[in-house]
Amino acid sequence: MNKDVFKAVQVTDRVYWVGAIDWSIRDFHGYLTGRGTTYNAFLVLADKITLIDTVKAPYRNELMARIASVIDPGDISVIISNHSEMDHSGCLIDVIDTVAPDAVYASPMGVKALTRHFGPNLPITEVKSGESIDMGNMEAVVMETRMLHWPDSMVTWLPAESILFSQDAFGMHLASYERFADELDDAVLDYEAAKYFANILLPYAQLIPKVMENVGNAGIKPSVIAPDHGPIYRRGEDIEYIFESYLEWAKQEPAPKAVVTYDTMWGSTDLMGRSVCEGLASEGVEVKSMSLKGAHRSDVATEILDAGALIVGSPTINNNMFPTVADVMSYIKGLKPKNLVGGVFGSYGWSGESVGQLESIFDTMKIERVAESVKVQYVPDEDDLKRCYDLGKTIGKKLTEAKK
Ligand code: FEO
Repeated sequence: MNKDVFKAVQVTDRVYWVGAIDWSIRDFHGYLTGRGTTYNAFLVLADKITLIDTVKAPYRNELMARIASVIDPGDISVIISNHSEMDHSGCLIDVIDTVAPDAVYASPMGVKALTRHFGPNLPITEVKSGESIDMGNMEAVVMETRMLHWPDSMVTWLPAESILFSQDAFGMHLASYERFADELDDAVLDYEAAKYFANILLPYAQLIPKVMENVGNAGIKPSVIAPDHGPIYRRGEDIEYIFESYLEWAKQEPAPKAVVTYDTMWGSTDLMGRSVCEGLASEGVEVKSMSLKGAHRSDVATEILDAGALIVGSPTINNNMFPTVADVMSYIKGLKPKNLVGGVFGSYGWSGESVGQLESIFDTMKIERVAESVKVQYVPDEDDLKRCYDLGKTIGKKLTEAKK
C-alpha cells in the first residue's frame, strides 16, 4: 500500500498513530460493531524506534504504509505487544519478520498466549509489571492489567511524552477519520464507550477500581490516553470523564431503569411484554423495551450496564425457550452483570418450559426475581395482561424504593 496515501497521524512530539481503520466490520466476536472500529498501533520516535502493538492480520499493509510515511520500517528497534488478542497481534509475527527489530516484549502471560497462537520459539522477551523498557533516550514502563481484557493484557506508560498506551481499556469500536475524542460527537463517544465497557470489560469490572488506583499510585498521570480501539484522549477533561465513567460503570449501582427483552411467535409474548412495560412506566422508571425481532444481544447488554432490573419473556418452542432468547441469555450470563432485580414471563401451547428455564438462568445469575412469573397458555386474556402489568409495576416499585 502507498505511504503517500495511508499516512501516520502525529499524536505528540514523538508519537504517531499508525493503525488501521476497519469501516466494514459489524461482528466483533458476537458484538454488533455498527460503527466499525479501528485497530490502533503507535510509533515512538525514540533513539530506539518503538512500535506499540500491531493490527488485525488483513490490515498489515495499511499499518506498514502508515509507518513508512514517517520512517523506514526497517529502522524499528523495539516492538511492544500490550495484548495478544488477534485484533492487535494478527500480523505481529509477519511484522517481526519484516522489520527484524532488536527486541520484542510482551507480558509473561503474553508470551505464553502468543506462543499458543503462533508457535514456539518466538523472538519475544517477557517484561514483568513495573519493569522498564530501554528506548535509548527514553524509557517505557509496563504495568500488567490481567483480565482487562485477557490474562496477558498490559499497558505501557511513556513518561517522556506523558502518554499511556492503554490497549483495550478506554477503547471503543468506532471507525472515523477523527483520531481524537475532542473532534467527535460526545453522544456517540458516550454510547460507544459504554457499549465497549458493557460487552468487553463488564465480567471483570470489579478489578477496574484497583487497577486504576495502582496506575495512580505508580505516579502515572497521563496527558494523553492512547487505546487500541477508537479515538485518543488528549484533553484533561476528556481523560477525567472517561476515568470517572469507568469507575461509575464498575460500581453497577442499581438505577431506576428496567430493560425488558423478549421474542414472540404469534404475538402473545409480545403483548405480555408490552403490558409489563406499561406497569414499569406507571412507576416512573425508565423503560427500555428491546424486542429481539430487532435488538442485538450486544445492545441489550449495553442497556443493562446502567439498569437496575432485567425482565425477560419467551414463548416455548419444542420444550425450550425461543432460540433468540436463549442466545441473549447465554451472552448476558457470560458478562456477569451484578445488582439486578427482575422477573420472567412467557406464553406456551402445551408444555411451557420456557418460564422455568428463564427462572433457572436468573437464579444462576443471582438476579432476584421480585415478582411472580407470569405464564400464559396460548393467548393472554385481560386478566393475564393485568398480571403482566402488575409484574412490571412491582419491579418498578422495587426500583424506585431502592433509590430513596
Ligand atoms: Fe481489542 Fe481484547 O482485543
